[in-house]
Amino acid sequence: MSLTDTEKNALYEKLYGEISSLMDPECGALTNYANFTAALYHALGCWWCGFYFVRKDHLELGPFQGPVACTRIGYGKGVCGKAWALRTSIVVPDVHVFEGHIACSAESNSEIVVPLKFNDEVFGVLDIDSREFGAFNETDRIHLEKLVSILPAPEFNS
Ligand code: SME
Repeated sequence: MSLTDTEKNALYEKLYGEISSLMDPECGALTNYANFTAALYHALGCWWCGFYFVRKDHLELGPFQGPVACTRIGYGKGVCGKAWALRTSIVVPDVHVFEGHIACSAESNSEIVVPLKFNDEVFGVLDIDSREFGAFNETDRIHLEKLVSILPAPEFNS
């Protein structure tokens, strides 16, 4: 998505409203996480967008949109495992030069991973991949961190 920061601000602002109204408190968390990925995937036009959830010592694939992906990622491994371990978002402009990057798809060239926290504990990550280099920046990080705060509390990890 080669958008300017101004265009990104407008897109995320719209998405914030759309995703907020999509969340259905009558449904289980997985339902809402699934719709969250669909809304984001189509709005961003990204290559892959989805969740990994903490399960014991690794992350496991959750709801996603895009091609099939790696099912398990160890603590501290890849961009996702590092975001979990460091408890912070990671923006990767070029995945090919990120040490330890896990290539679920050869098509992906840039990526952003945002940790999901509940009671200050990381219970998963949101991962978004793009075929474009440098698709994500600080503007995306700020907005995505705000977007994941809309998600309901987890009820499916252990
Ligand atoms: N690239 C990620 C793995 C997950 S896929 O991109 C969907 C990583 O390095 O953790």
